[in-house]
Amino acid sequence: MDLSPSRTDASTSPSARALRPAFLLAALAFAAAVSAPNVDAQAVTPRPGQQVVLVTGSTSGLGREVARRLAATGAFVIVHGRNRERGMKVVEAIESEGIGNARFYAVDLASFEQVREFGETILRDYDRLDVLVNNAGFGRAPDERMVTEDGHELRFQVNHLSHFLLTRMWLPRLRESAPSRIVNVSSGAQQPIDFDDVMIENDFSGGRAYAQSKLAQIMFTIDLAEELEGADVIVNSLHPATYMDTGMVRRAGLTPRATVGEGADAVMQLITSSDIGSGGYFNRLRPARANAQAYDEEARNKLRELSEELTRGR
Ligand SMILES: NC(=O)c1ccc[n+]([C@@H]2O[C@H](COP(=O)([O-])OP(=O)(O)OC[C@H]3O[C@@H](n4cnc5c(N)ncnc54)[C@H](OP(=O)(O)O)[C@@H]3O)[C@@H](O)[C@H]2O)c1
Repeated sequence: MDLSPSRTDASTSPSARALRPAFLLAALAFAAAVSAPNVDAQAVTPRPGQQVVLVTGSTSGLGREVARRLAATGAFVIVHGRNRERGMKVVEAIESEGIGNARFYAVDLASFEQVREFGETILRDYDRLDVLVNNAGFGRAPDERMVTEDGHELRFQVNHLSHFLLTRMWLPRLRESAPSRIVNVSSGAQQPIDFDDVMIENDFSGGRAYAQSKLAQIMFTIDLAEELEGADVIVNSLHPATYMDTGMVRRAGLTPRATVGEGADAVMQLITSSDIGSGGYFNRLRPARANAQAYDEEARNKLRELSEELTRGR
């Protein structure tokens, strides 16, 4: 990682100082005019040679902690979530440390339209992507079946399909930036996918929907590692920690048992370790075995075909 603190020096000559307010106003007007509807247009861009990392769901909980740690290595962090206020606070916290930089993008993963726009915006705004952490997640609470504007069961779309689509869109950029890493934040809560009822129209529970979406992320990880063999793009999945003190856990009425720091340690290991392998599933810091369906090639093929079909042209 690039740890050099180089920042572009502004000119301090009197004429430059006199021109500054007018220039700033013009720049702000331009930024407002070109800002895309769902994406914040902040002026900051990566320094030459600075690593670019993206953490989905980094407005709170585990993602926020991972974003801060990555910024502390000197990286440019793309912060993402739906809540603009919390997102901007994360950006401010990172900028105030003076080591890394950050920029926030507000995107709802329950909308393929917003997800595709996000995918294209990132490709336009950044010519490299060194680390992608697919962390955003919708938990088991409320115990209610919800359907997205695209007509899919909400957890399956937010946790799996949207990350599948974004990862596929950004894969060429991750390949160009190799050595690069992808981390899929899954969970120990895993349940086999019933391919006759993927959208869980029968016997629904929030826990079942969450658990099948988390297993789908692990299955995608194994497939992707096979596809990326030899490309120096390492991809792994993990259960970060059990009942971290986050909104997701509190909303489910559970008593927190771990800190986000413990979960972030596990995520960071998959980003920084030089001897981690690819295609693995980790329970916190250790390699582990996922639900048996993850190792069923036929099931993985079915999931890949379904995910491609549901995200095609979206
Ligand atoms: N907490 C645990 O003990 C635990 C255990 C195992 C696995 N995990 C996994 O860890 C990851 C992080 O969870 P957490 O516990 O840190 O939860 P959290 O504090 O609730 O954070 C979830 C993040 O995901 C974002 N998000 C949720 N729905 C979204 C949507 N529709 N579109 C865009 N962003 C969305 C949220 O951003 P906004 O609010 O700004 O939308 C937030 O930044 C999840 O993938 C979860 O499954 C957590």
